[in-house]
Amino acid sequence: LTKDRYPVKRGNYAIINDQDVAKFESILEKHRVITGEETQGYNIDWIGSVRGSSNVVLKPKTTEEVSEILKYCNSRKIAVVPQGGNTGLVGGSVPVFDEVVISMSLMNQIERIDEYSGIVRCQSGVVLEALEANVREKNLCVPLDLGAKGSCHIGGNVSTNAGGLRLIRYGNLHGSVLGVEAVLANGQIMNLMSNFKKDNTGFHLKHLFIGSEGSLGIVTKLAIHCPTAPQAVNLAFVGVENYQNVLDTFLLAKKELGEILSSVEMIDELSLGCSTTMCNIQSPLQTYPFYMIFETSGSNNAHDEEKLTNFLNNAMEKSLVADGVVTNESAKMKTIWEMRERIAESLLKMGYCFKYDISLPLSHFYEIVPVLRERVGDLAKIVCGYGHVGDSNLHLNVLCDSFNKEIYSLVEPFVFEYTSKLNGSVSAEHGIGFHKPKYLHFSKSKEAIDMMRQLKTLMDPNEILNPYKVLPPLNK
Ligand code: FAD
Ligand code: MLT
Ligand code: ZN
Repeated sequence: LTKDRYPVKRGNYAIINDQDVAKFESILEKHRVITGEETQGYNIDWIGSVRGSSNVVLKPKTTEEVSEILKYCNSRKIAVVPQGGNTGLVGGSVPVFDEVVISMSLMNQIERIDEYSGIVRCQSGVVLEALEANVREKNLCVPLDLGAKGSCHIGGNVSTNAGGLRLIRYGNLHGSVLGVEAVLANGQIMNLMSNFKKDNTGFHLKHLFIGSEGSLGIVTKLAIHCPTAPQAVNLAFVGVENYQNVLDTFLLAKKELGEILSSVEMIDELSLGCSTTMCNIQSPLQTYPFYMIFETSGSNNAHDEEKLTNFLNNAMEKSLVADGVVTNESAKMKTIWEMRERIAESLLKMGYCFKYDISLPLSHFYEIVPVLRERVGDLAKIVCGYGHVGDSNLHLNVLCDSFNKEIYSLVEPFVFEYTSKLNGSVSAEHGIGFHKPKYLHFSKSKEAIDMMRQLKTLMDPNEILNPYKVLPPLNK
């Protein structure tokens, strides 16, 4: 499957033998070394784009165990893949060949929640939704939310610098993550933890591990700043006739909702059609070319509700919005969020999906959807766009019955060239993983890629950490 679609040659790594497995069993308890049939799920990614053939999955519980594993793998030149919740969308979380999977799922302890400072320290394998539930007990919230929250790990989020639905409010993880602990390829433990928002002591090395997708080290712990949980959450779901009105409605929302605005999402007609049909959800609105979600998070419900309602009325008076609803009832808000968050899952249920996650200037944000639709014609079942418009991040999807080389060659590198011409980013939030190393140059200069490679060589000279991912192959 994988090699057919994306030709790549196995690196010169050791092949696991019985002695290696015995060594792993001596580092971990025997039942935390998984072999055989049970490894299957760890070999395939969420969208079914990469299937590895690893026969060993390791489940450490402590940083020291991770360190022992990597020290041994480095000495033997055994390639490894760190795996969090395996919800990544760029094929980065699974083996390409027989790399050993290091699953972080048992490193799920929350060490400390400081309700005064909002600083939370935990191991990297805590599931995002579980972390959110725990910090809520102290009236805090995690500054990150995404559709994969029920499975993804906070360590996976850090390693991908995940964006999600509330980035417009809380910023990205380079700001919220105050410190990390990571294990380098040679087993060395790097303690880069910090309990403070303000800590300008030398180079900010933690940033190397935020968004490097397991290519420079394994994140074992982190400290994250969690803001106070909002006391009042309100949602507006609106129908819009054209993209210019989407832009003008966004502008109006920023002006009128300013400090309480916590999410601005856009969904096109076909995307909403997918989630409502496949997940059997009843939309509160009739059909429009575009929909938008505006969420407010504040401390006074009456005040926020009034502001959001006024905003909707004004947007309708100005004919920017054709129809809309405002709600703070949890069941209704859940339905609206489901229509948005379950689009990815719905597309996947309908066939094979080529997924693109790009940043584009807002003035050209949606154009690529009709352009691509025209380009692939009847070959695709659906070409649709949705995403975090408030952060200029479009999710562009091309759905077909099954993987199809003809569509593939029409879509790539076209999408990346198009993005690059507009000075956009070929990966807004999902990362580079296995799918995009050869397209990195569309968003990064040669000098920047060279420096990334030098850092990789410094930190992982044997290239055992997540090979075939993130960096383009060297023309050796
Ligand atoms: P994995 O998928 O297991 O791994 C992702 C990458 O990180 C891999 O390269 C892996 O090797 C590395 N990695 C994982 N854990 C560690 C660790 N402890 N140390 C070092 N490297 C590690 N992404 C967004 O940014 N925004 C969204 O809104 C969003 N929505 C999504 C919705 C759905 C329904 C799905 C399925 C995915 C979505 N994603 C989104 C993508 C994905 O959920 C994120 O990239 C997430 O951060 C991955 O976390 P994970 O624990 O599943 O990591
Ligand atoms: C989302 O925002 O829903 C995700 O990033 C997943 C996707 O791209 O479909
Ligand atoms: Zn997204």
